Amino acid sequence: MSGHADPIPMIARRSGPLSGVAEVPGDKSISHRALILGAMAVGETKVTGLLEGQDVLDTAKAMRAFGADVVQHGAGAWSVHGVGVGGFAEPANVIDCGNSGTGVRLIMGAMATTPITATFTGDASLNKRPMGRVTDALALFGAKAYGRQGGRLPMTIVGAADPVPARYTVPMPSAQVKSAVLLAGLNAPGQTVVIEKEPTRDHSERMLRGFGAELTVEATDEGHVITLTGQPELRPQTVAVPRDPSSAAFPVCAALIVEGSDILVPGVSQNPTRNGLYTTLVEMGADIEFQNPREEGGEPVADLWVKASSLKGIEVPPERAASMIDEYPVLSVVAACAEGTTIMRGVKELRVKESDRIDAMARGLEACGVRIEEDEDTLIVHGMGPGGVLGGATCKSHLDHRIAMSFLVLGLASQKPVSVDDGSAIATSFPVFEGLMASLGAVVERSDR
Ligand code: S3P
Repeated sequence: MSGHADPIPMIARRSGPLSGVAEVPGDKSISHRALILGAMAVGETKVTGLLEGQDVLDTAKAMRAFGADVVQHGAGAWSVHGVGVGGFAEPANVIDCGNSGTGVRLIMGAMATTPITATFTGDASLNKRPMGRVTDALALFGAKAYGRQGGRLPMTIVGAADPVPARYTVPMPSAQVKSAVLLAGLNAPGQTVVIEKEPTRDHSERMLRGFGAELTVEATDEGHVITLTGQPELRPQTVAVPRDPSSAAFPVCAALIVEGSDILVPGVSQNPTRNGLYTTLVEMGADIEFQNPREEGGEPVADLWVKASSLKGIEVPPERAASMIDEYPVLSVVAACAEGTTIMRGVKELRVKESDRIDAMARGLEACGVRIEEDEDTLIVHGMGPGGVLGGATCKSHLDHRIAMSFLVLGLASQKPVSVDDGSAIATSFPVFEGLMASLGAVVERSDR
């Protein structure tokens, strides 16, 4: 997609009570990993519930470029005929990962220990994001990276001809970096060790084990020590992708702040490395019932019954940040509608996401009449109480899906409508957002109609 999509201006208006069932799409992180590990297994992996957002479609296309046979059979139903660990072919063309940091970083890892060369690019947002955090680690395996200044895309990776295993302590809490190292370790002989000081989402570890890799995780004083034995034969799997808790956050938060709402969001992953937002919302006073807890596709899931709630500001513990890193934008919207102050510390990773999310939320919330304080690592939102946010502004989305959806959720509970300059990036992770929100009674529209 590489930034060629036309901007889609959107507007959200104060809405009556939301009600109904919100079936959000499949998990983005798990969808990328299912395609990539499927491509590295020998034989046919079947995937159901795959997120058909642009980010994941770009990863599917990339896996084809590396030689895997990736086929869509029906809505969310895909198959991947993999080429085996070390079996990637050299792509004939540049790999365009669109808006997806997860896509490009994981794929760089997956190809870095195969003797092929690939050049990666993305859209205007992705081409600003730091890749050095991945390529520093891949260099330990013997891979070389040639990118733009500051380690930006477009970038060429020359895979190691004689890879050696690596031992790497991830310097920042990043599941993408951890996963890139583990995927690179697959084709290195011997044991690759990744140490993470703070636990981050563990989908790669779960899925690598599911595909038959030998992987252990040990909790030590240093943090989690993850050891992967290289050069396994990955066995194809059937992967049932659970619904994305990061996408579910939007209807859930909308229902909490729109008076009289009562919605059900079924089958949402409650993986403890992902559910920090839900813990936080409950602490703020949210009325959320976690019904039918069960296991689906190797992940804990539950049905969420959510009712509009009177919410109070809280201090979010910084050690919770990794388990809700993508949810701070929408949490800051909930915080704006709550009574009292919400303090979010330890969130500097938000500055290197699809946009600088601290800056994007602070500027948009201020334009809507909300008082904000921020520093490099902190966002503080002074709540206006139910119905207290003025709105009436056009907020910039900076090609960031979660920023666009967060401001549209705000517009549902503000006095005046809230617009976003461009909602086109919503299609990267939540292509059915508009229709799903409308089905609940939310007034979210394209404003160019
Ligand atoms: C992801 C990891 C997180 C998250 C991103 C998805 C993943 O990024 O923000 O949306 O699937 O591994 P970081 O690894 O940069 O924290």
